[in-house]
Formats: sequence, structure tokens, C-alpha cells
Amino acid sequence: MKAGLYQGAKQLEVAEVPLPSIKNREALVKVSYAGICGTDMMIYSGLHPRAAAPLIMGHEFSGSITQIGPDEKLKVGDRVAINPLIHCGKCVTCRSGQQHICDNLKYLGIDTNGGFASLVSVPIENLYPLPESTSDEDAALLEPLAVAIHTVRRSKLKVGDTVVILGAGPIGLLIGIIAQKAGAAKVIISDVSEYRLNLAEKYGFHAVNALKNDIVEVAKESTFGVGADVVFEVAGNQMTANQMIDAIRSQGEIVVVSVYKKPPEINLAKMHFREISMNTTRCFTTEDFQKAITMMGAGEVDVSALISHKLSLDEFEKGFQLMEDLTSDSMKILFYS
Ligand SMILES: NC(=O)c1ccc[n+]([C@@H]2O[C@H](COP(=O)([O-])OP(=O)(O)OC[C@H]3O[C@@H](n4cnc5c(N)ncnc54)[C@H](O)[C@@H]3O)[C@@H](O)[C@H]2O)c1
Ligand SMILES: [Zn+2]
Ligand SMILES: [Zn+2]
Repeated sequence: MKAGLYQGAKQLEVAEVPLPSIKNREALVKVSYAGICGTDMMIYSGLHPRAAAPLIMGHEFSGSITQIGPDEKLKVGDRVAINPLIHCGKCVTCRSGQQHICDNLKYLGIDTNGGFASLVSVPIENLYPLPESTSDEDAALLEPLAVAIHTVRRSKLKVGDTVVILGAGPIGLLIGIIAQKAGAAKVIISDVSEYRLNLAEKYGFHAVNALKNDIVEVAKESTFGVGADVVFEVAGNQMTANQMIDAIRSQGEIVVVSVYKKPPEINLAKMHFREISMNTTRCFTTEDFQKAITMMGAGEVDVSALISHKLSLDEFEKGFQLMEDLTSDSMKILFYS
């Protein structure tokens, strides 16, 4: 079968590889669409601590079942969403019911082969039938949507709140969409990309160019000088790590979603004087993933505008170059084979 391979830092290759074999309680899935995520970019740069070449990356994908043993719920031909999280089931965290932050958490497409290929083997328990109403393209965004749902559900966001989101990448925009659904009265979002800010405006957010305007001032002006009720930090740099503390109201809540490439300095004194809370968030629970399928299936969230490119797997390297080029007007890039 055809696969896009990570062969080492900045080394990608499209190659014919043997078909994956399936073990007991696994299914063979034909990939429909697979999206590039920031984590794939980290692997591509050679900076991911676990991913080892040669690897078929891709943990955001949809597909259909081509081979499966006896199962009560799924059969050959079913269109499916894939939850890429693999927990050990044995550690204390798993046994206390928090499998999504398993001490030994693994991901399809990071620790084992993933979706940048024609076919992939997936544990049956990680497969969910797709609603008729959900397209294969949109279904490739269920994983990041589940991240956004998990993030907002973990926050203290309440109806009528003003929310600031730092970073209008796919995760920041999806958090904005879910925050609106959860009752946010106003979503203010910053980025440095005009293309991404334009998209943010289409979703009804107040978009702020961080190179031209001060998001802290905008947050204050929009809240009678008080500051945002909840700030989601989704850009991951020192500038936004400073802004998250200055844009929040006293006793407000900061939710850190970003994975920082370099640990930022956090001014705890500023937080303590105003009793600011900080929350962190990692991936999503099975429940969040199911909610993502339900919300998308019910037409409650429209992610299609986030898909900027659909490329053949033959253009594997081009996809990564587009993601790397900050002027390329890319958002979510999907591969099909
Ligand atoms: N917690 C989790 O489980 C989880 C899951 C997925 C992604 N993440 C993290 O969330 C973050 C966002 O993910 P993404 O896929 O949307 O990444 P992304 O890189 O596409 O988005 C980040 C955005 O921040 C913008 N930005 C850069 N500097 C800025 C500034 N000074 N002010 C405002 N915006 C600025 C960038 O232009 C970009 O659009 C990443 O750090 C990623 O690693 C966390
Ligand atoms: Zn991802
Ligand atoms: Zn575990």
C-alpha cells in the first residue's frame, strides 16, 4: 500500500509498504482523509520525544472498515471515526478512570503507525460509526474538535462570559466555536495571521491582530475595564503567556492548552494578587470524543471552513511545506490516497 513516511528530521518519503496485519480485536481501516496537526510538525522537525523513524504519522483521520473479526457493533464497509488514544489500562491513573492522561499514553500516528497511508490497523474499541450526516472530510477533524470540547468542559465558562482566546489556529478556532455553544457572550481571539483572523471573523469572533493591537486593551474595553472571564492560551509563546495574565479579570480562569516549545516565565505574583486560577488540559476523554461525533452529526458545529487544502498523499511533502510556511494561508490540510 501507499504510505507517507517520516524517515527522520525533515525527511519525508512516499513509498510502497507492506499491508498492516491485524491482530485479535483490531480492524483494518481504509483511510478517507487524514489531517496534519502541530504534533506531526513537531515530529517532522525531529523534536518529538517519542516518535521514532520510520513512522507513518497521522492521528486525525477518518476511514471505512475493510476487514474486521466478529463484532456486535461494526462491520466491513462501515464509515468510522478513529480515537487515536491508546491507554495502558494498568497504571494508577488509568485505574482511577483518567485513561486520557494515562502514565503510558500512546497515540496512533505517533507511537505506532497512523493515518498518512491507504490502510491502517486500529483497535476495534477505538472505532466509532460515523453519522450519515458527517462527511469523511469533516470527520478527520473530530479529534481536534474533541480537544476543544474537553478544554471548554474543563473550564469554568458560564453563560454570558467574555472569553479571550490567544491563537487562532485550528485548536483556538474550535475552542471559540465550542465556547459560543457553551454560552459565551463574546469571543475575542488574537493571531498574527490575517488569513486566520479573517476566518475567525467568519465564525463571529472579534478578531485582533496581535502585531497591530493589544489584546489586553481590547479585553478590558469589552468588559467595562474588568477583563475576560476565561482566557484560553492556544498560541504557546512568551508574549501570550504574559497576555493571559493581563487580559483576565480578578478571580478569572486561565486555561493553558498550548504545548510550549520552550517553558515560559509565568508571573505568579500578578496571579496571586488577583486570585487568578490556572487550569491545564490534555487531549480528551472517550466521552468528549463521543460528544464531538454527536455535535458534528447534529450539525451543531461546522468545521468545513477550517479545511484549507485537500492533497493527494503523493503531495505528502508539499503538505508539510505549506504548514511550515507561515504565509501560506493554510489551516487544516488533509491527505487522501
Ligand atoms: N492540550 C492539548 O491536548 C493539545 C491538543 C492539540 C494541540 N495543543 C497545542 O495547542 C496549540 C495550538 O494548536 P494548533 O494546532 O491550533 O496550532 P497552530 O500553530 O496552528 O496555532 C497557533 C496560532 O497561534 C498564533 N500565534 C503565534 N504568535 C501569536 C501571538 N503572539 N499572539 C496571538 N497568536 C499568535 C499562530 O499564528 C497560530 O495561528 C499548540 O501549542 C499545540 O501544541 C494542545
Ligand atoms: Zn493533533
Ligand atoms: Zn495507563
